Amino acid sequence: MKNILVINGPNLNMLGIREPGIYGSQSYQALVDFVTEVCRSHGLSCECFQSNHEGAIVDRIQAAYGNVDGIVINPAAYTHTSVAILDALKAVSIPAVEVHLSDVSAREAFRQVSYAGMACQATFAGHGFDGYRMAIEYLLEHCG
Ligand code: DQA
Repeated sequence: MKNILVINGPNLNMLGIREPGIYGSQSYQALVDFVTEVCRSHGLSCECFQSNHEGAIVDRIQAAYGNVDGIVINPAAYTHTSVAILDALKAVSIPAVEVHLSDVSAREAFRQVSYAGMACQATFAGHGFDGYRMAIEYLLEHCG
């Protein structure tokens, strides 16, 4: 495991502004800094990608083929709707771990399905930024 791609879906660029009671008061840039430092501390290189567009996320997953050893993905709202992101993760077969800042299992019924999660080795939800650390360490420990 050398290169990690961290993908964040729609509205996660609004962290710190959007529903701070659910998603916290820290910004998206603070999340990027956190993830970058976790990767650096484990000797990993990492790229953080955020998009509000489903197709752009599919394109980024496809571009990872042959270039990335592990994917950490918070598909945000697309978690619950996107067969396209599920299929892209399956297509590239790169070990992937799903993250959610909030505990989706304790929220609305429509958040109880995760399509992307069906192509992921593990899910960490409800741990805030720390879930990304858990996901990176899971990839290191379980996926070479
Ligand atoms: C989220 C949970 C999703 O249900 C929601 O649509 C998001 C963020 C989370 O990180 O808790 O945008 O993925």
